[in-house]
Amino acid sequence: MKAKILVTGGVGYIGSHTAVELQKAGYEVVILDNLSNSNAEVLDGIKNITGIRPAFEKMDMQDKNALRQLFEKHPGIKGVINFAASKAVGESVKKPLLYYRNNLVTMLNLLDLMPEYGVTALVFSSSCTVYGQPDRLPVDETAPIKLALSPYGNTKRICEEIIADTIYAGAPFKSVLLRYFNPIGAHPTAEIGELPLGVPQNLLPYITQTAIGIRPQLSVFGDDYETPDGSCIRDYINVVDLAKAHVKAIEYILENKGEKAVEAFNLGTGRGVSVLELIHTFEEATKVKLNYKIVNRREGDIPQIWANPEKANKILGWKAEVPLPDTLLSAWKWQLHLREKGIM
Ligand code: NAD
Ligand code: UFG
Repeated sequence: MKAKILVTGGVGYIGSHTAVELQKAGYEVVILDNLSNSNAEVLDGIKNITGIRPAFEKMDMQDKNALRQLFEKHPGIKGVINFAASKAVGESVKKPLLYYRNNLVTMLNLLDLMPEYGVTALVFSSSCTVYGQPDRLPVDETAPIKLALSPYGNTKRICEEIIADTIYAGAPFKSVLLRYFNPIGAHPTAEIGELPLGVPQNLLPYITQTAIGIRPQLSVFGDDYETPDGSCIRDYINVVDLAKAHVKAIEYILENKGEKAVEAFNLGTGRGVSVLELIHTFEEATKVKLNYKIVNRREGDIPQIWANPEKANKILGWKAEVPLPDTLLSAWKWQLHLREKGIM
C-alpha cells in the first residue's frame, strides 16, 4: 500500500473519480465531506468500481476542531487533495460571504494543521477562471492572472496566493495547483458521475437532462461571438483523465520530482470546442436529437479559452486521452443510469 491521502470533498464529482484513481494506483484514501453538495451513496459507487470502500468522515472542514480530530483518528496522512469548496459561479455573486467563508476558511484550517500532522503534499483544485479572457490562446501557466469575474473565481485566485505565501514563509510542505479547464463526463461504468442539484448551470448536464426530457430545451448562450461558428469555445476535459492527473500530482510531490515548492499546471486537452460543436458531437455519439435554441449571451461568459497543457504533459507525465465522443457517451450513460435508479 502506498501513502495515505486525505481527499476533502471526496464524495463530490471530481473528488469521487479521483478517489477511484488513487485506490487503483495503490493509495489508501480517507474522504471527508459535509455532503452539502453530494450524496453518501457515491461511496458505494467507489466500492463497486475498486472493491474498496474508502474511510469516510462526514464533517464540515470549516470546523477546525473536527479537522484536527480527523487527523488524530487517521494518523500518517501524507498528502491532501483539497476539493472541498462551494462552486456555483452564479450563487457566489448572490452570496459572496458564503463563498469567501467556505472556500477560504476550509483552506486556512487545512494549512494550519498540515504541518502539525506531518502532511507534506497539498494538491489544490484551481480553475482556468484565474486567467479571465487570456490575451493569447492556447493559454499557458505564464499568462497573467486577471481580475476575477465572480466571488467564486476570486476564491480560487486567493487560495492559490495563500498557499504560495504560506510555503514561501517556510511551511514544511509542497503544493501543486491544478487549473482545470471544463471537466465533463462520468466514470465509464456509470457507477459515479456528476449530480447537479436543481437546474444545471453547466452545459453538459443541461444537454443530458434535455436529451432525456427533464428539460424541454437547451439554450445556447450566444452565436454572435468572434469565433468560427459564433458560439463560445471551451476546453472540455474528461473527468477520469482529470482524476488521473491528481494521482500524478500527488506522486510528483511525494516522490520529490520537482524543484519548486509550489507549482501550477493547466489540465486541459489543448483543443477548443464550441458550444454548437459539442451539441453536434453529442448528437452524433448518442444518436439522440437535442432540442436547442440560440438565445442572448450569458453575462460574464468569456468568449473563448483553451489550454496549452504541455507543462503537465512534460513535467507530470500526464495527458488527456479519452476522445470527446466517448466522454459525451459516458455522460449520457450516467444520465440513463440516474433515470434507471429513479434519481432523476
Ligand atoms: P462538488 O460540489 O461535486 O464537490 C465538492 C464537494 O465538497 C462536495 O461533495 C461538497 O459536499 C463538499 N464540501 C463543500 N464544502 C465543504 C466543507 N466546508 N466541508 C466538507 N465538505 C465540503 O464539486 P466538483 O465539481 O467536484 O469540484 C471539486 C473542486 O474542483 C472544487 O474546489 C471546485 O471549485 C473545483 N473546480 C471544479 C470545476 C468544475 O467545473 N466542476 C472547475 C474548476 C475547479
Ligand atoms: N452554455 C450554454 N447553455 C447552457 C449552459 C452553458 O450555452 O445552458 C455555454 C456557456 O455560455 C459557455 C459554455 O456553455 O459558453 C460552457 O459553460 P459552463 O457553464 O458549462 O462552463 P464555464 O466555462 O462557464 O465555467 C465552468 C465552471 C467554472 C469554472 C470554469 C473553468 O462552471 O466554475 O468552467 O473550469 F471556473
